[in-house]
Amino acid sequence: MSQIYQAYLAGHWQTSASNQTITIESPWQHQPLGEIQAVTQAEVDVCIKQAKQAQPAWAALSNSERGAYLNQWADNLLANKAELAETVMNEVGKNAADAEKEIVRTADLIRYTVQEALHMHGESVRGDGFPGGSKNKLGVIERVPLGVVLAISPFNYPVNLAAAKIAPALMAGNAAIFKPATQGAISGIKMIQALAATGLPAGLLSLLTGHGSQIGDYLTEHPDINMISFTGSTQTGKHLSAKSIMVPLVLELGGKDPAIVCSDADLDVTTADIIGGAFSYSGQRCTAVKRVLVSERVADDLVAGLKKQVEALTVGSPADNSKIVPLISEKAADFVQDLIDDALAKGATLVTGNKREGNLIYPTLLDHVTPDMKVAWIEPFGPVLPVIRVESVAEAIKLANQSKFGLQASVFTQDLDKALRIAGGVEAGTIQVNGRPERGPDNFPFLGVKASGMGTQGVHNSILSMSREKLTVINLK
Ligand code: G3P
Repeated sequence: MSQIYQAYLAGHWQTSASNQTITIESPWQHQPLGEIQAVTQAEVDVCIKQAKQAQPAWAALSNSERGAYLNQWADNLLANKAELAETVMNEVGKNAADAEKEIVRTADLIRYTVQEALHMHGESVRGDGFPGGSKNKLGVIERVPLGVVLAISPFNYPVNLAAAKIAPALMAGNAAIFKPATQGAISGIKMIQALAATGLPAGLLSLLTGHGSQIGDYLTEHPDINMISFTGSTQTGKHLSAKSIMVPLVLELGGKDPAIVCSDADLDVTTADIIGGAFSYSGQRCTAVKRVLVSERVADDLVAGLKKQVEALTVGSPADNSKIVPLISEKAADFVQDLIDDALAKGATLVTGNKREGNLIYPTLLDHVTPDMKVAWIEPFGPVLPVIRVESVAEAIKLANQSKFGLQASVFTQDLDKALRIAGGVEAGTIQVNGRPERGPDNFPFLGVKASGMGTQGVHNSILSMSREKLTVINLK
């Protein structure tokens, strides 16, 4: 009998009135990890109502008072690091070292969020800055919270990407409703246990687990939700955007990040960054390198180097810190396998890989990938890397921009002027020059354009997106 976890409903750990639970199974141990509550729409209503009621008193606290709760949350996470990391490893298959890094990164992010909020200031303005305006009009611009923030997090960072929404929401003075991805919900529950232990005011925060079909749209359409921060698939993000009504949204969605490799690139640096960028956590990252656009002149050398390093990647159990771990589900593995099969059927060269054991896909490198192949355009969220050979920088930029995605891109060259020219031509939220795509460090803005999202995350921008300006005009005599 696996453990039954309760939902955190308006400050109280409770069993849902639905008397229904969802069993969470480990994607690599293939055994139940526990059961989570399938909460009802009526429970959603109560939690949002309580959040709305608790929020004004929370907003009335000083940043330092709110920060004390969050710093304690960070301390509690670190005190429980081993159990949390093991839960992340077992629930989403992240290897032990990366799972522990996620917990440490989350505590650092929470503490940084407190400091950032403490040092964000408003501004003042005088009317005479505008023609005909009076100097006696003194404008004081402050930031105020939006109200109740809905934070929806993905499976691949079940602690970090959830806290990256909840921490700025709370520091900005909001209440928060947290809806974790189902696979990752137990990790989210344990993260919230650490926050609840700080004595957070009752009602301010709720953790709602359950069927997206039951409460997904209900949450995003709820009239008392004042802002939604979502990380997940582009398909779900677009659906959420269509369902929400006049609510500020920040959407972190999919990607098809290209690594553009110029003929003058340092191939040792390039190879190491592409391997790390494409295959860490089996490519289950929105910022993973998901295609290589390489100058024909150096393609053979690059592919030879990539082959050698791909074949050196450890494959197997997350508990052994394998680099390549089982994917989050059989369905995810089927999806990746289909992309590989399609590419090979259309003439791609299998450099290495294309081996599967259940939901474990071995790292696969495909060369001579052409635009007619699905893997050239579709986000695999798995350990498959297509190499597309190009004749010019212009062709690389054109192919990069033909993607519906625009999250990040890497440019590898030893000519900084060329790198900046390419960076200027590629439609993406972030361009990495001689480095792999990545969301961190978390003091940087993080954003995607086109189908990769809208709005900007990163600690500072998240606080801004979860608050608004308020102007007070003092009319002096
Ligand atoms: O897929 C989640 C996205 O936030 C990636 O984060 O830190 O692995 O680049 P990171």
